[in-house]
Amino acid sequence: MSELNSALPVWAAVATHAKDMAKVHLRDLAGSDARRWQQLHIEHDTWLLDISRQRITNQSLALLLDLARAVDLSDRIAAMFRGDPINSTEKRAVLHTALRSDFAGSPAIQAEVKASRQKLKDYVAAVRGGKKLGVTGKRFRQVVNIGIGGSDLGPLLVCDALRAEWSGDLTPHFVSNVDRTQLEDLTRTLDPAETLVIVCSKTFVTQETQTNANAARAWIVGALGEKAAGSHFVAVSTNAEAMDKFGIASDHRFTMWDWVGGRYSVWSAIGLIAEIVIGSERFEEFLKGASDIDKHFTNAPFEKNLPVLMGLLGVWNRTFLNLPTLAVLPYDQRLARLPAYLQQLEMESNGKSVSLEGQHVNFATAPIVWGEPGSNAQHSFFQMLHQGTLTEALDFIAPLRGSWGGTEGQDLALKNCFAQSQAFAYGYTLPEVEADMRKAGVSAGEIDRIGVHRVHEGNRPSSLLMYPQTTARALGGILALYEHSVFVQGTIWGVNSFDQFGVELGKKLAVGIDMTGAKSPQGTGAGGIAALINYVTTHR
Ligand code: F6P
Repeated sequence: MSELNSALPVWAAVATHAKDMAKVHLRDLAGSDARRWQQLHIEHDTWLLDISRQRITNQSLALLLDLARAVDLSDRIAAMFRGDPINSTEKRAVLHTALRSDFAGSPAIQAEVKASRQKLKDYVAAVRGGKKLGVTGKRFRQVVNIGIGGSDLGPLLVCDALRAEWSGDLTPHFVSNVDRTQLEDLTRTLDPAETLVIVCSKTFVTQETQTNANAARAWIVGALGEKAAGSHFVAVSTNAEAMDKFGIASDHRFTMWDWVGGRYSVWSAIGLIAEIVIGSERFEEFLKGASDIDKHFTNAPFEKNLPVLMGLLGVWNRTFLNLPTLAVLPYDQRLARLPAYLQQLEMESNGKSVSLEGQHVNFATAPIVWGEPGSNAQHSFFQMLHQGTLTEALDFIAPLRGSWGGTEGQDLALKNCFAQSQAFAYGYTLPEVEADMRKAGVSAGEIDRIGVHRVHEGNRPSSLLMYPQTTARALGGILALYEHSVFVQGTIWGVNSFDQFGVELGKKLAVGIDMTGAKSPQGTGAGGIAALINYVTTHR
């Protein structure tokens, strides 16, 4: 059995260097090297990645790049794009890149993707052009996506982020949660005669999606008759049998492949709702944006390679500097759902503690990913980030223009973004606080009393990713950058970023729980669960 990557000599060298760096403040680094920004920013195409406020030196980067080479990152990237079964636990290839890049996967796979794209484009044109109508002859005006996890978060983010690129007269809606609230809200307001429902589920067995899809079917059929199911429902899945059972018409089915993971599936027919709303031309720009990054990822030297650097910094912050979380802070309201999307991407992919060879790892893997758009977040949790007892890694993401093309509002957003990253990095020392208070005419006693409360320790590391505007193309690029960064991190940690067995146990136990109390729950702790069921029945 081969050893963990942490047994590599270069891993030890990075760890030793990290111990030294733990004693260094960003303030010292900024002061010691005027050329820091020049050296620690990368421009590629229309992207800027500023890593000058990360707790690194040129030596840190050199060591991290050595680590990438020591784990054969280049070979692993090539293996993924070739279609080798790198999802080894499930014996599957990982080829979401083939959905957007014609150099990924085999010619046979490329041909399948091409055929699937054509089918999608034809369908989208028919819905947008009013050729596909509801059972009463009305045009579709409302599109409801029923799905969860990767079958929800990707299309939801694309629809939300590209609001400025919506065209046509179709409004997207999303139903994911099992508690039925979202569906109830929609069925109370939408006209079923003009509603198209897309059931997105790779497996077509996911409990939440099945429950919501059945309820939506009952709503449509209840209002328009059994015949309506054929024209008002579309499905995206690998499970033909289950689609038969649900009654999805053959020309309303879009395929998925087992080589596309749920959290990597927005590029496939899972993105259908977004393609309907923004049109195929824009959707293909979204694919193109991702493909540009695929090319960059596979061709650029590591020291200039954005996702490689992002991934290495992820490992550096989490594993070597021991920072527990990554806050994702987009300075663009359009990207409000990006943190949730990245949560699944990073945490479901790399939230692992066993290596590819089945050994328990002896280092920290995926951070907790969370966040909200700035400047809103400045008025909620930034206080804790600046002065709390935890230190976190931060990702700022900011376009140069607002999504409607304007600069005025975005200038305000950018100035806040820059100021925050400066404050997080360099802080506000007691002598600075005291000097400012003296200048403001505050008495010595008062300075003594509250000066210390105003100190910002700083040394909170951050990256800043900038690009011209949140267009379809840019969004494709952002998502691909993070996908590949996740791959780089998973490769350094030596874990399988493409399975998700951790979601299984809870699902299995839920199946065994009967809310009527007729059947007793099983397994360790069943007594406590039985008591909870009893509590629900007696207190309702
Ligand atoms: O529960 C986790 C998960 O399997 C995700 O990986 C996936 O995106 C989601 O559930 C939905 O799965 P499906 O598309 O098969 O309904």
